[in-house]
Amino acid sequence: MCSLFFVSSNYNKFLEIKSIMKNRLSSTKLKFYRVALPEIQSNNIELISIEKSKSAYSISKAPVLIEDDGLFIKSLNGFPGPYSSFIYDTIGNNGVLKLMKGIKDRKAWFKSIFVYNDGTMIKLFYGEINGKISSRMSDGGWGFDPIFIPEKSRMSMGKLHKKAEKNKYSHRGIALEKFIDWYNNIR
Ligand code: IMP
Repeated sequence: MCSLFFVSSNYNKFLEIKSIMKNRLSSTKLKFYRVALPEIQSNNIELISIEKSKSAYSISKAPVLIEDDGLFIKSLNGFPGPYSSFIYDTIGNNGVLKLMKGIKDRKAWFKSIFVYNDGTMIKLFYGEINGKISSRMSDGGWGFDPIFIPEKSRMSMGKLHKKAEKNKYSHRGIALEKFIDWYNNIR
């Protein structure tokens, strides 16, 4: 059995990843390595995530998986996108709802990029879901979950999280299924 480290400061992400993976990785145990990885400043989330995977590998010296996400709002020209963490930590969900006040077009999407890095190979996996920004905040979930309603749902991600249904709809679930298929094929 070998180890694969999911390196992140966000334990919520790890819990979701673990529940999607359900020990489906061939001969591999997924472990959580809690570190706030440095993030380079860029508009390109691929570049940010590749650099993050390199720092993660240099810390763990073992195969790593990292994830980078972004929330993109159509009427705000894709904002906050690569700045999603900073916006969440500063103005939060209330601030985003204020920015969206009076705006009719509430289309938004979430993007997830997973990066696998084992020191010799770097591989990227993508997941994207469309949805909209709700007019008010729900309970449940974490991050932007309380203000994001996936296209195929009438409930916010927050509510879906509460009902343990978020993984069926999430950008994370889509990207991770691609990773699991690829990983089990190369092993
Ligand atoms: P990062 O990948 O941790 O930088 O995520 C960017 C921002 O998006 C952070 O503020 C996260 O809390 C938020 N975020 C990432 N994934 C999700 C999710 O599945 N639901 C809600 N917010 C998320």
